[in-house]
Amino acid sequence: MKRFLKILAGCMVIFGWAGFAGAAISDQTKECLACHQEQMPGLITQWQSSSHWQSGVGCYECHKAEKGEADAREHNGFLVATIVSPKDCGQCHPQETAEQESSHHAKAGDILNTQDGLLGQTIGGEPAVAVGCRQCHGSIVKVNEDGTLDSATWPNTGIGRVNPDGSKGTCSACHTRHRFSKEQARKPEVCGKCHLGPDHPQKEVYEESKHGILYRAYEHELNMDRPKWVAGEDYYDAPTCASCHISASRNQPVTHDVGDRLSWDLRAPISKRTDDWQMKLVNMKDVCSSCHVAGFVQGFYDQLDNFVDLYNDKFAIPAKEIRSLLMDRGVISKDNFDEKIDWIYWELWHHEGRRARHGAAMSGPDYAWWHGIYDVAKNFYSEFLPEAEEASKKAGKPEVYDEIIDKYIKSDPRHIWFIEGFDPKKVDAMKQYYQERYDQKVE
Ligand code: HEC
Ligand code: HEC
Ligand code: HEC
Ligand code: HEC
Ligand code: HEC
Ligand code: HEC
Ligand code: HEC
Ligand code: HEC
Repeated sequence: MKRFLKILAGCMVIFGWAGFAGAAISDQTKECLACHQEQMPGLITQWQSSSHWQSGVGCYECHKAEKGEADAREHNGFLVATIVSPKDCGQCHPQETAEQESSHHAKAGDILNTQDGLLGQTIGGEPAVAVGCRQCHGSIVKVNEDGTLDSATWPNTGIGRVNPDGSKGTCSACHTRHRFSKEQARKPEVCGKCHLGPDHPQKEVYEESKHGILYRAYEHELNMDRPKWVAGEDYYDAPTCASCHISASRNQPVTHDVGDRLSWDLRAPISKRTDDWQMKLVNMKDVCSSCHVAGFVQGFYDQLDNFVDLYNDKFAIPAKEIRSLLMDRGVISKDNFDEKIDWIYWELWHHEGRRARHGAAMSGPDYAWWHGIYDVAKNFYSEFLPEAEEASKKAGKPEVYDEIIDKYIKSDPRHIWFIEGFDPKKVDAMKQYYQERYDQKVE
């Protein structure tokens, strides 16, 4: 039926009868269609496949602009804007917009001016920031004198884009134009544009998790096209990113604030609890409870919390304090990225330490261990500490390294092996074991 309506609508647009399609199409939109059907037929067909088309929400309803708006342009007798900002969508979807605006997603454009700004702009370069950082985080969209958009800042669908009207974000980061479908936004691939790679591999973690495996196995049985989509009621086999972070559960509505269910900040150099974390934890556990028993979910969180404590206490806090101590004692400068140890430390928490925590939080064992704590430990013992020693010596202050060893390594039984080596009996037993296993001498 839907397909038939679409074909019918296609014919009607071509023959100029657009007013018959779906709900009533406004006279203004009919004029837009008269040109745009010819100019960009792909775009029109996308729109005709949307629930906006069915509800009579057309080109003009979204793109119309008021006089005085920063990006308003005279366009064939109409005042239009290319950008349809969250504020514009919010005229009809106030709740989604309000939630989105209070989320971290909406702030992702602001944080580009942090110490990372140095990494992007100075160490990389502006053109790399434009096609890299800002395509995920969002640009500050600038309007040219003639009302067109500055190509240094547009095209862009970064999640925290700063729009000419001052609003923040892009709804089409997830609801790709011009279908604006919720079915599409429920799929993990939509988040995977940004949530992947060496410093936040949520997509890869998900793919290796049992949840991701089940998603691929039963994707077509998850009823993702249903208007309502509640875990345990509308689908059973697997949760997607949206299930856990956005979609409704039996006791919670859909939320456009992706932080509503997070008890930890897992991307900070040292993880800390979020505000109101107990409540957020209850929210997330409620999602899990559609498919798992409470004790199982508690076990999962016990493992996660222990893991975060291990990362924080054994590696992250000492590494941060050691670097500060090197600065205080004048061994290294207080600047970022001007010494080898700055880069080592950066990768320790920003890449390896995050991967580890994200692996643990979303059941990806390879990321928790091999791409995670294994890399953190390897870095800490074989690069970070040796570089602290080297830098102390070079600065003519070898006693600073001794101070570090006394304060951070000898004082913690978990690091003692680094000074004293392993128990020789355990080493022998291990060698013996591998000698038998591989039938060859092991050194
Ligand atoms: C007389 C034909 C015509 C009419 C009527 C028309 N358009 Fe266009 N529109 C075009 C063409 C051609 C382009 C591409 C060239 C350009 O940017 O002007 C375009 C471009 C656009 C763009 C992209 C601008 C940019 O550069 O980013 C938007 C948005 C747009 N039209 C919306 C609308 C809307 C909304 C309406 C109805 C209110 C409408 N158009 C009516 C012909 C038309
Ligand atoms: C539900 C709101 C909505 C409707 C309806 C809508 N648009 Fe758009 N349109 C957008 C958004 C959002 C963007 C992307 C700009 C942004 O990121 O803010 C966009 C971008 C565009 C662009 C420029 C981007 C490109 O890919 O070239 C054109 C041209 C355009 N729309 C034309 C149209 C026409 C023609 C119609 C009617 C068939 C239409 N739009 C209907 C929201 C809408
Ligand atoms: C003029 C009012 C209006 C504007 C502006 C508008 N929408 Fe909608 N939107 C609707 C209506 C009506 C529906 C269909 C009924 C419903 O599902 O609520 C809808 C449905 C949706 C849906 C659900 C689609 C589905 O798969 O069922 C999404 C997602 C959506 N809109 C996103 C947006 C975004 C993003 C923008 C801005 C770029 C926007 N809308 C602008 C009125 C509007
Ligand atoms: C592939 C998309 C992508 C690119 C490219 C990217 N980021 Fe990010 N960035 C993200 C995501 C996703 C997060 C959130 C990670 C998380 O929550 O685990 C993030 C987090 C951050 C944070 C931490 C925010 C916080 O609240 O703690 C900063 C700062 C940051 N990015 C800056 C940058 C800079 C600067 C660049 C370019 C030099 C860049 N990013 C490139 C996607 C990207
Ligand atoms: C991070 C991705 C993401 C962004 C950004 C996003 N949405 Fe959504 N949105 C979703 C998902 C996922 C759903 C489907 C929830 C579900 O399973 O019902 C959804 C559903 C919706 C719906 C349908 C709500 C319902 O209960 O039927 C509307 C309307 C909507 N979004 C509007 C918006 C608007 C407006 C914006 C921008 C202010 C926006 N969305 C930004 C992911 C996103
Ligand atoms: C266009 C890029 C982009 C897309 C698409 C995207 N995100 Fe994000 N996301 C980010 C960035 C960047 C951050 C970090 C924002 C910050 O800290 O300022 C982030 C942060 C988050 C956070 C942490 C929020 C918090 O309060 O700490 C969650 C959870 C999240 N995203 C989930 C999702 C999910 C689920 C999807 C898909 C439905 C998604 N994101 C789609 C870029 C994106
Ligand atoms: C089975 C549920 C589940 C699925 C599926 C899931 N997540 Fe998560 N996610 C979690 C949990 C649990 C946490 C940690 C919650 C806490 O802090 O208490 C988390 C944390 C996060 C964070 C916050 C990281 C930070 O730096 O603080 C981001 C971003 C995120 N997930 C994105 C995604 C993306 C993208 C996907 C899909 C590729 C996804 N998640 C799939 C449950 C899930
Ligand atoms: C839509 C149903 C569904 C939801 C919601 C769901 N899961 Fe699962 N989960 C499953 C299924 C099915 C399995 C596979 C069980 C098996 O290994 O046989 C699974 C497996 C797991 C595993 C085992 C991983 C492994 O490698 O053995 C953990 C841990 C887990 N889920 C935690 C969670 C947590 C925590 C949440 C909520 C944040 C959650 N799940 C939400 C269905 C779900």
